[in-house]
Amino acid sequence: MAITITMGIQKGGCGKSTTTGILAHLLNNDGYRVLAIDMDSQGNLTELLSGESSNEFIGKSVLEAMQQNNVKEFLYSVNENLDLLPANNFLATFARWIYTGKTYTGDMIPFSGSPTLILDNLLEQVREDYDFILIDTPPSLSEQTTNSLCASESVVVMYECSNWCYSAVPNFMDSVESAKEFGIRGTEVIGILRTMNDVRRSDAKAFNEIIAEDFPELVFQTVITRKAPVGRLSLYGFKENKELNKALELYIHFYKELIERVKNR
Ligand SMILES: Nc1ncnc2c1ncn2[C@@H]1O[C@H](COP(=O)(O)OP(=O)(O)OP(=O)(O)O)[C@@H](O)[C@H]1O
Ligand SMILES: [Mg+2]
Repeated sequence: MAITITMGIQKGGCGKSTTTGILAHLLNNDGYRVLAIDMDSQGNLTELLSGESSNEFIGKSVLEAMQQNNVKEFLYSVNENLDLLPANNFLATFARWIYTGKTYTGDMIPFSGSPTLILDNLLEQVREDYDFILIDTPPSLSEQTTNSLCASESVVVMYECSNWCYSAVPNFMDSVESAKEFGIRGTEVIGILRTMNDVRRSDAKAFNEIIAEDFPELVFQTVITRKAPVGRLSLYGFKENKELNKALELYIHFYKELIERVKNR
């Protein structure tokens, strides 16, 4: 039975997609069966893992999987034991479809049920097929985010060491709490990952420390710093990338901490 983990925070550019992609890669390398789900219409995780434009997946994405209540039809195989449910721009029409039944093609697929449990119900079809399901979310509190949280046992709060991210954390914690009450997965924060830390900036150092004071039990000890090889993953991906080891250096420590927490959960 898969363990489902969402990477989230309703603030842009905090390393959610990068972290989801790296985690999928590391778990897959360790022989785990992984499903990565892109719930962001930007399609960044899709492009990172597939190496293709997200537009290649129009009509073949997580949106259609949810509308047709059929996962297997829409799985994209990245490699053995790593599948992707891709996303593209049209995922932005998800909420309109839920509340009107109208799809972006103009077809009517009436939806009745709980608007926030669509993904959770869909994943019932494949939970036995994977060890881990990882979900990347958009930088806002949307139907994509609430569905992701309700479909997950665990949530990694992505924390970029800055003021606006610091102010986003309490609201996001509230969203996780609501998902726990509303959903059936017992959704809980498994940890706060400090990312994009600019070691040259004193304000980043301060926000790095303040979150650890606020949530001493939740922060991961590993802090991901800003490093060009991590940023360039979006360019080179995971195959034939000469600087991959440099990109993964810090993430390997985070990965070990996460696995330890998952085992003890
Ligand atoms: N540790 C890092 N060092 C340098 N660049 C990074 C690092 N992590 C991510 N990046 C780069 O920073 C940008 C934002 O990262 P990413 O897209 O993963 O964040 P996100 O939270 O998914 O953003 P969004 O909220 O838009 O979905 C990207 O260009 C990415 O390549
Ligand atoms: Mg993203």
